[in-house]
Amino acid sequence: MTMYSENVHIVNHPLLAHKLTILRDKNTSTKDFRELVSEIGMLLTYEATRDLPLTEREVETPLCKTVAPTLAGKKFAVVPILRAGLGLVDGVLRMVPSARVGHIGLYRNEETLEPVKYFCKMPKDIAERDVLIVDPMLATGGSAAAAIGFMKEYGCTNIKLMVLLAAPEGIELLQREYPEVPIYCGAVDDHLNERGYIVPGLGDAGDRIFGTK
Ligand code: PRP
Ligand code: URA
Repeated sequence: MTMYSENVHIVNHPLLAHKLTILRDKNTSTKDFRELVSEIGMLLTYEATRDLPLTEREVETPLCKTVAPTLAGKKFAVVPILRAGLGLVDGVLRMVPSARVGHIGLYRNEETLEPVKYFCKMPKDIAERDVLIVDPMLATGGSAAAAIGFMKEYGCTNIKLMVLLAAPEGIELLQREYPEVPIYCGAVDDHLNERGYIVPGLGDAGDRIFGTK
């Protein structure tokens, strides 16, 4: 098995593994697929936010006063890569309700597999925020690398990427171009086919989330 750097986090959890298998099943309905993407988004966010800084505050329990941990209130933004990344936003926001949301619109040219940008809208103070880019699929890595590049142009310095499924090719590209960006993923599959699809994969994530095929 390929060894990746410590910045590649393959989240190993039975609930996540079980839900991913249902996603892979071609007979899973659009409704179930969408709900599962959101649930897996929550489970992955749990891991991707493990290093959020804590401070302390006083709290009065029914028994006594005590000092207990609370989030230090670091500014956080989730940035979905449209379209399919939208499916993960709700899961992130359920875990981090105060997060702001920036959007990057990219689609892959089906012949060249190169990402094409069609939309970008960020919170004004995005450069001060910790950024979590989300997309269900990391295939060639072209879309994620472009998204990371855009966020760097905005001045962001703390960037992470969260995906459901990755291909070795995508991880290797990001490790070469952006080794400092941590990747959180549910599984790394075997390979890409000649059309740039992850195998065994789950098919076209955007089409399955939005029911467009
Ligand atoms: C899919 C997926 C990623 C990209 C991954 O989007 O959601 O954004 O492909 O492929 P890559 O790693 O080779 O760049 P797609 O271009 O199909 O657009 P969509 O989300 O609008 O369906
Ligand atoms: N995009 C998808 O939606 N699925 C793949 O397998 C590869 C890219």
